[in-house]
Amino acid sequence: MKIAFVGKGGSGKTTLSSLFVRHLVAAGAPVVAIDADINQHLGPALGLDEQEAAALPAMGGQLPLIKNYLRGNNPRIASAATMIKTTPPGEGSRLVRVTEPNPVYDACARPVELDGGAVRLMVTGPFTDADLGVACYHSKTGAVELFLNHLVDGPDEYVVVDMTAGSDSFASGLFTRFDMTFLVAEPTRKGVSVYRQYKEYARDFGVALKVVGNKIQDPDDIDFLRAETGDDLLVTVGRSDWVRAMEKGRPPRFALLEEATAHALQTLRTSVDATYIRRDWERYTRQMVHFHLKNAESWGNERTGVDLAAQVDPHFVLGESVATPV
Ligand SMILES: Nc1ncnc2c1ncn2[C@@H]1O[C@H](COP(=O)(O)OP(=O)(O)OP(=O)(O)O)[C@@H](O)[C@H]1O
Ligand SMILES: [Mg+2]
Repeated sequence: MKIAFVGKGGSGKTTLSSLFVRHLVAAGAPVVAIDADINQHLGPALGLDEQEAAALPAMGGQLPLIKNYLRGNNPRIASAATMIKTTPPGEGSRLVRVTEPNPVYDACARPVELDGGAVRLMVTGPFTDADLGVACYHSKTGAVELFLNHLVDGPDEYVVVDMTAGSDSFASGLFTRFDMTFLVAEPTRKGVSVYRQYKEYARDFGVALKVVGNKIQDPDDIDFLRAETGDDLLVTVGRSDWVRAMEKGRPPRFALLEEATAHALQTLRTSVDATYIRRDWERYTRQMVHFHLKNAESWGNERTGVDLAAQVDPHFVLGESVATPV
């Protein structure tokens, strides 16, 4: 299952991503966590100190390796240089799984020990101004999109992405790659306006979007969010003493998380798990092709000097039954 946390800056994306990761790991589920936000804070939120977080390898710096591995012996992709962030897998491509060992994880993922198990953490690396352009060739989130487009994930295994709600993810297809998108919103007009914008983009692509109210202080906060987001409001989270203690560098055992917060996290998991039955690999594949053709036309063909539409394998559908070549 693929889950994104998006929302306004400072709303609590990283905090809730990290709590959700801890919740899943404590329950024994395999988890890959990805920090794809402009502000790279997921490592520290999972308990890494500054030095450890700074030492994490950046996915953005491993793009040639990632591309070379994923393209495998797909005859439609002549070289890593002609593989852009939206290049879809086809026959001969290598697919990735949540729990296997593979060269992408070797290069980009590091295990982080949490209560009850470990999570594989990958980070895009810090964004520069150039990363925030609409059609950037070297886009940091491009590595995440490639990874998700080649990922075959089943139920009870999770990829959790801490992500910005910016134009970068809308220009590519990144925002359509998730079984569930949690939009973290504080009960403020700004928080809600990011929700509206996201909802607008999401509408045409059948993106499952739920609002997670954060930093809720009283019933009036909940009423406000309910009035502004209606049935999209899934759950609300109040100010957490556990989070405050963690921020001070003294995280209590995760089992000591406040009951209300733990309950909210379980609600998130239940709503994610419920989407599996509607999982539609054909639509997932069709959307990656859609965004690939769009990117090819708007900048990719010119940039690479080849017709990137030819990379699309018309008979290929990503799914759990597709075998990966060795
Ligand atoms: N439920 C909560 N209880 C207590 N503190 C919280 C809660 N949610 C968020 N915070 C605090 O609010 C601040 C911002 O949260 P966080 O860093 O998770 O937001 P963000 O959306 O990831 O921000 P950015 O856009 O900078 O990446 C942090 O100091 C965090 O500890
Ligand atoms: Mg953050």
